[in-house]
Amino acid sequence: MRMYDIILKKRNGSPLNKDEIDYFVQGYTQGNIPDYQASALLMAIYFKGMNHQETINLTQSMVDSGDSVNLSEIKGIKVDKHSTGGVGDKTTIALAPLVAACGVPVAKLSGRGLGHTGGTIDKLESIPGFSTSITNKTFINNINEINLALAGQTANLAPADKKLYSLRDVTATVDNIPLIASSIMSKKLALGTDAIVLDVKAGNGAFMKNIDDAFSLAKEMVNIGNSLHKDTIAIVTDMDQPLGYTVGNSLEVKEAIDLLRNKSPRDLKLLTITLGAYMLLLSKVVKTKQEGMDKIQDTIESGKGLELFKSFIKKQGGDIACIENTDLLPQASTIVPYEANKGGYIHKIKANIIGSVSLILGAGRNTIGDKIDLSVGIVLNKKVGDYVTKGETLAFIHLNKEDKIRPCIKKLADAYLIKDTPPKPKPLIYGIITKKGVERL
Ligand code: URA
Repeated sequence: MRMYDIILKKRNGSPLNKDEIDYFVQGYTQGNIPDYQASALLMAIYFKGMNHQETINLTQSMVDSGDSVNLSEIKGIKVDKHSTGGVGDKTTIALAPLVAACGVPVAKLSGRGLGHTGGTIDKLESIPGFSTSITNKTFINNINEINLALAGQTANLAPADKKLYSLRDVTATVDNIPLIASSIMSKKLALGTDAIVLDVKAGNGAFMKNIDDAFSLAKEMVNIGNSLHKDTIAIVTDMDQPLGYTVGNSLEVKEAIDLLRNKSPRDLKLLTITLGAYMLLLSKVVKTKQEGMDKIQDTIESGKGLELFKSFIKKQGGDIACIENTDLLPQASTIVPYEANKGGYIHKIKANIIGSVSLILGAGRNTIGDKIDLSVGIVLNKKVGDYVTKGETLAFIHLNKEDKIRPCIKKLADAYLIKDTPPKPKPLIYGIITKKGVERL
């Protein structure tokens, strides 16, 4: 087999077979195929696409490129959740203990990554002492004891994806549905859970800017998961404005803890309860989505979710005093209000711009080596649909470096759209994709 022929075949629009895909993926991972040939194939895939079977084969090949986590010692049906990423998305922090408190084993591997804030691990590290450096044995034991553990992603989980993603990043081949779907699902499949609930975001703060593309990505991922024997469903949700009110690491942890105390904004709570309901459904703890929603709601109200969160944090070395008193979490030295320059109804709070402000403040990473500031970020004071008067506070900027005030305020001016009449209400959840089909809400 020659890489030249594989590139030519795809360039001419023909589907690749499993052997050709394996040759490329394993060869590239092992360093036997040069970047220029891999880049050429990625670009050919970008323009000619991949059919479902090719996408499934690409995913399996990337899983086979490294280790898989063996979770067979964990009792019960293990369910994972993955979000394609959005601004202010702290859902996992509250969702994982809620689902675990309902009796479902939750084995989470999370990353740090680049972005407007840190990943789930960075966020949880706002809690002093909390660590994801736990052995495999502790990971399994903790799940068997309290149904929840969180560890960092190991280097050898789908290493082909890591290498290919870096190449896609510098060859303008990231935004392609078969490549995104196989990339995400390869990492999920390498983690040996039985089922997965995907939250595919649509909007200006998400990978997929429009709703139809988000549905296409969701359908592709659901198809890959179910074809490779992982019970998979997806919901497509709005990411035009940030989720909840906070963006920033410790600020988001506080908001997630507030949710576990039943003090939460409507959007964050609705999303958490909906994702939780589907996780319970896939794990067969409930028979209907409504039963699942009621169960998650009861788990919030009874305080069982909060108790499980404390046990989880304690088991991984964290100081639970910060949960009892969230004022002990890292705090920024200065809080600056950002005020409305006119009165009216808020039509837009552009999530991508709020994300970039968070990055300027130092809450996220531009490059892998960047150190993030856990205490800084934005706290919205109003959401889309709210009425503001001129001079009223739209958001609070939490910062440690005074020289960031001007660039942040300049950017925030572009984030808001305020008009005289109220906006048309928009749904938070656009639809659900299961192996049976698509339900648009
Ligand atoms: N996230 C991933 O893990 N892979 C992609 O290709 C895009 C987003």
